Amino acid sequence: MINRLKRRKFGQLMFLSTLITMVSDRLKPAKAQQPTPEVSLPAQGAEVVLNINGTEHNLTIEPRVTILDVLRERIGLTGSKKGCNHGQCGACTVLVDGRRINSCLALAVQYEGAEITTIEGLASGEELHPVQTAFINNEGFQCGYCTSGQICSAVAMLDEVAAGDASIVTENIIDLDTPLELTDMEIRERMSGNLCRCGAYPGIVAAVKEVASSE
Ligand code: FES
Ligand code: FES
Repeated sequence: MINRLKRRKFGQLMFLSTLITMVSDRLKPAKAQQPTPEVSLPAQGAEVVLNINGTEHNLTIEPRVTILDVLRERIGLTGSKKGCNHGQCGACTVLVDGRRINSCLALAVQYEGAEITTIEGLASGEELHPVQTAFINNEGFQCGYCTSGQICSAVAMLDEVAAGDASIVTENIIDLDTPLELTDMEIRERMSGNLCRCGAYPGIVAAVKEVASSE
């Protein structure tokens, strides 16, 4: 009997304590609403106009974005390929003012005002560029992944030769008035920044020679 009275007493005390807690919570003053701070976001990118294959593109791009990513992800020109993304394979080669560069290493914001030419911009309408035709004639490719870079590189390389630029294997670098002889070794050296994992090098060299001999 005594135990039952103790249990009832204990239950009453617990109920009372819960009730007090609930009431005191209700009576607490509501937290003041904090005004939402005005957040000024950092600029999302720079406004640039890039001339790509003769067309001007108004773009807002972050300073860290490369020409290759602009071409492939923003413009939809996927001919230039991302092989290594480290300047080692040449699959991303494009022309900037006629000179070849690895577009994976070139920050796009730096090229406002330059003329960027990709593999898509080499042909004249339905007529292929002579280097494109020569690659087809000489089977200068297998899977084709490196080919757009190889062709852009070859186009600029032939201009370098025509301008008398020497390479590391050029024998006569004194008499620059004599036209450079484009030997196989010259072609291989000058195209050594463009790797082909299919090993289509004999066809690539033959294609470059074909164009050089027809000029
Ligand atoms: Fe640019 Fe390889 S993807 S050099
Ligand atoms: Fe396949 Fe060159 S053709 S990587």
